[in-house]
Amino acid sequence: MASYETFESDVLVVGAGGAGLRAVIAAREAGCSVRLVCKSLLGKAHTVMAEGGVAAALGNMGEPDNWQVHFMDTMKGGQFLNNPRTVEIFAKEAPERVLELEQYGAVFDRTPQGLISQRPFGGHTYRRLNHVGDRTGLELIRTLQDKAVGVGMDVHMEVTLTRLLKDGERVVGAFGYSRESGRFVVFRAKAVVFATGGWGRMYKVTSNSWESTGDGVMMAYEAGAELMDMEMVQFHPTGMVWPPGVRGLLITEGVRGEGGVLKNKDGERFMFNDAYMPENYKGQFAETEEEGARWLDDKKNNRRPPELLPRDVVARAIYKEVLAGRGSEHGGVYLDVTHRGADYIKRKLPSMYEQFHALGDVDITRQPMEVYPTIHYTMGGIRAEPETGATSIPGLYAAGESAAGLHGANRLGGNSLSDILVFGKRSGEAAAAYSRTVPLGTIDPAQIEEEAATLLSPFESGGNENPYTLTQELQEAMQKDAMIARTEEGLTRCLNTILGLQQRAKNLCVQGSRMFNPGWHGARDIRFMLKTSEIIVRCALARKESRGAQWRLDYPDKDPQWGDKNLIAVKDGDAVKITTRPLPPMPPELAQLFEGKAA
Ligand code: FUM
Repeated sequence: MASYETFESDVLVVGAGGAGLRAVIAAREAGCSVRLVCKSLLGKAHTVMAEGGVAAALGNMGEPDNWQVHFMDTMKGGQFLNNPRTVEIFAKEAPERVLELEQYGAVFDRTPQGLISQRPFGGHTYRRLNHVGDRTGLELIRTLQDKAVGVGMDVHMEVTLTRLLKDGERVVGAFGYSRESGRFVVFRAKAVVFATGGWGRMYKVTSNSWESTGDGVMMAYEAGAELMDMEMVQFHPTGMVWPPGVRGLLITEGVRGEGGVLKNKDGERFMFNDAYMPENYKGQFAETEEEGARWLDDKKNNRRPPELLPRDVVARAIYKEVLAGRGSEHGGVYLDVTHRGADYIKRKLPSMYEQFHALGDVDITRQPMEVYPTIHYTMGGIRAEPETGATSIPGLYAAGESAAGLHGANRLGGNSLSDILVFGKRSGEAAAAYSRTVPLGTIDPAQIEEEAATLLSPFESGGNENPYTLTQELQEAMQKDAMIARTEEGLTRCLNTILGLQQRAKNLCVQGSRMFNPGWHGARDIRFMLKTSEIIVRCALARKESRGAQWRLDYPDKDPQWGDKNLIAVKDGDAVKITTRPLPPMPPELAQLFEGKAA
């Protein structure tokens, strides 16, 4: 029999990024006892990688911004694969959540009038990104963490959860282990909120840290939850390319928001190339460099430069430039902000200045940066109800990047931070309300025994496979064939590699003890990484069209037949069952916002 320690609470929150912390605050304010489990240390979360700002239509910059415009921008950026009700709630509530954050103590940059300063970002019609230099995510985490500690919670750091525990259909807790001691732990709770973030580590080049291995999405999948639009993985246009050790590290979109321009090796501002301008954005962006330059001084009366198109568009353009042989020395393109002057750059983009100085020996006030797309975010995930974050399993809620529905086929920059504030709060409240209607459930020892045996098997298997080797092979395969440009042939090759790796993963071998054993952690992670990758690739194969982040070279256009369908993936024995489901219809009062506009 496996031995384990048991912890109880009304609500269990898994993941200590912004969504998790905001859920903790909401559940505590509703009077619940709350435990927060995080895989690494409190405060270390992918939230900090949303650097350039939190999107909310405060309208502080003298432009006629409002929730309706934010709604339309988000739907259009997401290529209308978003749940309209989720987007409506989001756009309406984001301003209140940002102002609340300020009341909690966040120190935003200010306008000369003393309002929160907002900057432009890709796909946002107006300056909408409320920011703290280029450290907005960090400030958000710092503030929410202070507040959450203030309202009181029990934090369990460096704990990896690996299985949801169920009593009948209902989720009643979770099982896992302490990374430090290797001891097993059981969390019993009336409701569980997953705020477990994304899964960028399936790829070789990513802005994601080691934690992002798809634990939440896979635990939910294995427990029977519906996953949605898993093929939608975001490639942020600007990751570092040099030196190799920092490849993929994020360069904030705030650089382009502050006027940074993209150039190829010939010095051409290639985003002005007509071929890169999507039909539905035509006429809305500057058409000449002169017009783009005027925008720098007078943003109200000039159109934005095309560097501020949505991320999927810019990432594809960079990919094509490099493919055409117009790339930079180390295989990217150039991002140049030197024309803004050293003082301005150091004030508005201090982290970028330091990052390039320290890691690349590049002075961005005098030299351009080399950039290439990096895996940054996952739009797909656990299907969650708009109002509550409820998943398809009773007792389980999802918020933030692990949840699907808000961003559709492509997320606009800055919408992630407002997402986690709005839906972190809502899911925490809903979990708290649910927890008042049910007792603690019964923990089934057989589920624990089964999971413990799976976790311990690499110590006892007598196999010869190394988890690091498998992880590297997976990342290579995903980077090669499930990246920006996808084809049936490449995706099928990738799927076959994954299925082969899954077989080999049955013979994983780990040595040493359970105490802080990175090999053992890797063996555990690879199981979820392989299944998540399989689902990404199967969904990418199934969606035979190009839309947002899903760019199929063999189906290069949007197909109206696919425009009203989400892809749903569920566990069916050992197989993945993928079906389509019609998108929820857009209510007439929202649909009419688009009348006469290029959607
Ligand atoms: O580029 C950035 O600062 C990232 C923001 C985001 O992902 O929302």
